[in-house]
Amino acid sequence: MAKILINGGPVLQGEVWISGAKNAVLPILFASILGSKTSRIGNVPHLQDVTTSVELMAQMGAMISIDERMRIEIDPTTLNNHEAPYDLVKTMRASILVLGPLLAKHGRATVSLPGGCAIGSRPVNLHIHGLELMGADIQVRNGNIEAIAERLKGARIVMDMVSVTGTENLMMAATLADGITVIENAAQEPEVEDLANYLIAMGAKISGAGSHTITIEGVDELGGAEYSVLPDRIEAGTYLVAGAITGGKVKVTSVRPETMDAILDKLQEAGAKITCGDDWIELDMQGRRPLAVNLTTSPYPAFPTDMQAQFTALNCIAEGTGVITETVFENRFMHVQELQRLGADIQLEGNTAIIRGVEKLTAAPLMATDLRASACLVLAGLVARGETSVDRVYHIDRGYEVIEEKLGQIGAKIRRKQIT
Ligand code: UD1
Repeated sequence: MAKILINGGPVLQGEVWISGAKNAVLPILFASILGSKTSRIGNVPHLQDVTTSVELMAQMGAMISIDERMRIEIDPTTLNNHEAPYDLVKTMRASILVLGPLLAKHGRATVSLPGGCAIGSRPVNLHIHGLELMGADIQVRNGNIEAIAERLKGARIVMDMVSVTGTENLMMAATLADGITVIENAAQEPEVEDLANYLIAMGAKISGAGSHTITIEGVDELGGAEYSVLPDRIEAGTYLVAGAITGGKVKVTSVRPETMDAILDKLQEAGAKITCGDDWIELDMQGRRPLAVNLTTSPYPAFPTDMQAQFTALNCIAEGTGVITETVFENRFMHVQELQRLGADIQLEGNTAIIRGVEKLTAAPLMATDLRASACLVLAGLVARGETSVDRVYHIDRGYEVIEEKLGQIGAKIRRKQIT
């Protein structure tokens, strides 16, 4: 077990290199199951969720090697076990992404039901319904999803709600189905498009990824591919908020600015001067305190739920009152009680947080509850007077590569302490 300790106060300045996107690399790793040849994936972030995914595929019999630069080579041809057990699925909900590829390639899959998690109930009914429309026979028993299909058939699928991993599971399954699949009301997230590009590199026929309607023409076989994962827009956004909350000047490099419009708009509203190049973004607060911002989370291209907690932290010390409404998950304000322990003035009304900015926060011991909430607590610690400790950092390690090193590099006083 470890804690992160932060001494608040320094104004952050400098450059941070952004890693590959967690939410792109996970589906890409699982998509390699669809291939009949070896794939090589680059720009892979060093994250606990990547380790879990590799462990899961290795348990299934795939041959996987990782070099010192985190390039992953996957030979899926030895895969012979079609089960994702509860002990791994419970630590990473994205394990549900093995369902579509296993079923399409091997005709069967048993995947433990992910169950609820801190931020809400997070059902997988859309994944199951879409696969049933493609001809799969699916039973849910003993806590498992048991799916069988000789060969999936193309189908027209209208998603009831916009689901990122739901869209990805169905798109992956459809690549080897017999005929054409059309997914309507598809998630438009850049990570869905990145997965589509990887599948196309493997030989899949996909058009429309990144829009509401994705069309997939099934093929008999996919090969392998060499692919470099998209940069992480949520990691980049988190470091830009770190610059904004401290009144600093931070440049993030190796990013795709065009995937971050909604985040950059809100940072500008908060008073930041934003300058972008092809693959970098610089934020300059010119020493000013941020202004409070109002925002509502929604599927891409609107403001991402995965940046909501970080902007809640920003509003805590901003000038004015900010109203933040969460519409994607029903219980994603676990960080509010922890921020209140630092002296934040936040009133929660259902799925809306009303945050009155205060001039200063004061350090306290804090507990991380989920991935993005833990990032928000670290951000608040950067401006809290004294030493803030954040416990249960395994949540952060699921999605942020060496966060203490990257923040330390731009002037934060932050360290990790092992505790027994
Ligand atoms: C993905 C992201 C996560 C992000 C979320 C929303 C990955 C690995 N994770 O999660 O970081 O916060 O998108 O942008 O990419 N829903 C249903 N039935 C379903 C599926 C979803 O009702 O079968 C609901 C969910 O409860 C939620 C909403 O749809 O309220 C959106 O969830 P979804 O987009 O599926 O989230 P994930 O794909 O799990």
